[in-house]
Parts: sequence; structure tokens; C-alpha cells
Amino acid sequence: MQNDMESKEFIEIIFSYITQISAERFADDILMLLADMGRQLVRADRCTVWVVSKDKKHLWTQVAHGVEHIQIPIDSGIVGEAVMHNKSLIIDDAYSDARFNPEVDKQTGYKTKTLLVIPMHNTEGEIIGAFQVVNKLDGKLFTQDDLRYIMLASTYAAETVTTSILLDEIEQTQKEVVFTMGAIGESRSKETGNHVKRVAEYSYILAKLYGLSEVESLRLKEASPMHDIGKVAIPDAILNKPGSFNIEERLVMNTHAELGYDMLKSSSRALLKAAATVAYEHHEKWDGSGYPRRLAGENIHIYGRITAMADVFDALGSDRVYKKAWEDEKIFELIHKERGKHFDPKLVDLFFEHLDKFLHVREKFTDRFDHE
Ligand SMILES: [Fe+2]
Ligand SMILES: [Fe+2]
Repeated sequence: MQNDMESKEFIEIIFSYITQISAERFADDILMLLADMGRQLVRADRCTVWVVSKDKKHLWTQVAHGVEHIQIPIDSGIVGEAVMHNKSLIIDDAYSDARFNPEVDKQTGYKTKTLLVIPMHNTEGEIIGAFQVVNKLDGKLFTQDDLRYIMLASTYAAETVTTSILLDEIEQTQKEVVFTMGAIGESRSKETGNHVKRVAEYSYILAKLYGLSEVESLRLKEASPMHDIGKVAIPDAILNKPGSFNIEERLVMNTHAELGYDMLKSSSRALLKAAATVAYEHHEKWDGSGYPRRLAGENIHIYGRITAMADVFDALGSDRVYKKAWEDEKIFELIHKERGKHFDPKLVDLFFEHLDKFLHVREKFTDRFDHE
């Protein structure tokens, strides 16, 4: 091994990093370790993992030593050259290379001298970014051996980036499907698309104020738009009936809570589980007079209690087939009156203490009626 590093040392570095990497769960943490490993393997000062943006027009630094997130046009600089032409590059003197883009140095106050860049590929062979090491220590130059050593870190980094893109994609898809299903439930009953958006926002605010964690609050925000998904199974004649229901119609209508739950309950995904709970319990009431199970107090899941408040507050303030929107004063009066009856008293108190937050959301996602 014609290198300034002994094989033994080389293997020790790799092993120590592999152990740490296998304990990490988050892509960025793994990439940071790979960046650390990369610069240590070839004795360089800094390492950057560049990723091609979704629109394929830019490269951005997913992780980098000493640099905040930076974005550059995909064809810019040495890294752009490596990505555009799918080739690894070793540069001995960046500033005398016409392809070098000094913009990043200008932004960071750093002085790039030597560079080694390797394009990263996904399993389909598409280029997804580049692994770059900057400034070999002690004024030395990068060698072909360095390139080979860095290949190890770069291959692993490519895998990590690919996986994290896939996971993001799946999570994003899940959220969109859930939201769309919720919107379908609402549109069947001729509610506005913004109703589910507002319910989501109100639910999130209430969850945070109530003291739920960020993860739980976000989960509720994503699940609460599904509260009426069961309505997809309610006959149109009942769903869109103007005026009020007779007893039989009311009973059919009320089945939407359990229908929604049945649709969602078998999923093992946290998001869909939360949505199942919301669908099942959003018509329960604090005093036990709700449906379908007549649960009371804290036996109603907090997701159900919160969505109930968010849903009613929003429904009262909106025009529906069977009624006109209420005036604010009347809405607030009702919420006060239902404190400890329909609604969890703590939630009612939080609602009024932070009323401005809710009104702000209502303002932001206001319904625009296009009369056709
Ligand atoms: Fe409902
Ligand atoms: Fe609703």
C-alpha cells in the first residue's frame, strides 16, 4: 500500500466508524459519520456530501464540515463537472482550474486548494450526488489511492441517501393519501376542502397547548382530517339532505364514526392508527352522551377529544347544506356552554386562552366561494 497510511490504521478507522454507523438511525447522522470517516481515511480537512435536488437543477450540501446548507446550480464548479459527466476528479490546485467555482469559498470564507470528488449513484445507476473531500492535510495532493479509499465511504453514502429519499417519499405519500381520503370524506358531504385543513391546524395547536409531544401533535395534525372518512359509506340521500334528519336517518348518519374506524383499524402504521382513533371517537362527548360508545372523560382518547373541539368549532363557523355559518359570539357562547359537557374543560380553557391562534388559522385558510 503505497500510501501514507498503514493498512492496519486504515482498517481500524473503518471498523470504528462501521460500529458507530450501525448504531445510527437518521440519514444525516450516518452521512456525517461517513464524512468524518472519509476525511480521516485520506487525511483531508473537510468532507461534503452533495445531493442532486428533486428538480435536478441544483446540488445541495446534505452534510458538510464547516458549511451550512448551500445550494449551487447542478452544472457549477468541479462538483458539477463530476455529476454532469459522471466522473471522479482529483484537483491539485482549485484556483488554477477554470471549472472551479469560488462562490462557495466566498460564502464560507474558506480557501479550497485540493479536491477529490466522486459521483454517487443509486441502485439504478442514476447519479444522485457526489462525495467530496477538500484540502489534503500537510499541503499534500490527493492520489489515485485516496480515490479508492474514498470510494468505500461514497458507496455507503449513496446507499444512505437513496434510502432516505425513498423513506421521505413513502412518508410523503402516506400523508397525501391520508389527507386526500379525508378530503373525499368531506366532499361527499359537500364540505369545503379547507375544512379538513383547518381542523388539522386547530388540532395541532390544541395538541401542543395540551402538552402532547411534537411527534404526537404532528401525528394528530395528519390524522384529524380523516375524522369523517366513514361518510364515504353513507348514502347520498341522507348525507346531502337539506334540513334535519329523522331518527332513522340520524342513526344511519351516526354509523360513520364506526365505519371510519373499521376502514382504518387494521393498519399497523402509527398514522393510520391515529386516524382510526379519531374517526371512532370524534363524536364522543366528555359527559358520556356522545356516540358510538358513549365514552366519557379521559376514557375518550385525547385525539378524539381534540378533534371533536376542532371539528365543531370549524363546522359552526362554516356554511353547510343544512345551515348558515354562525356568528362568532354565538359560537363562543356554545363552546363555553359545552365546557365539561361536550368538550374536555381543559381544552375549552386552552382554546379561549389562545383564541388569537385559532382565529389566525381560520383567517389563513378561509373559504373562497366560487359561485358557478
Ligand atoms: Fe363526524
Ligand atoms: Fe368535519
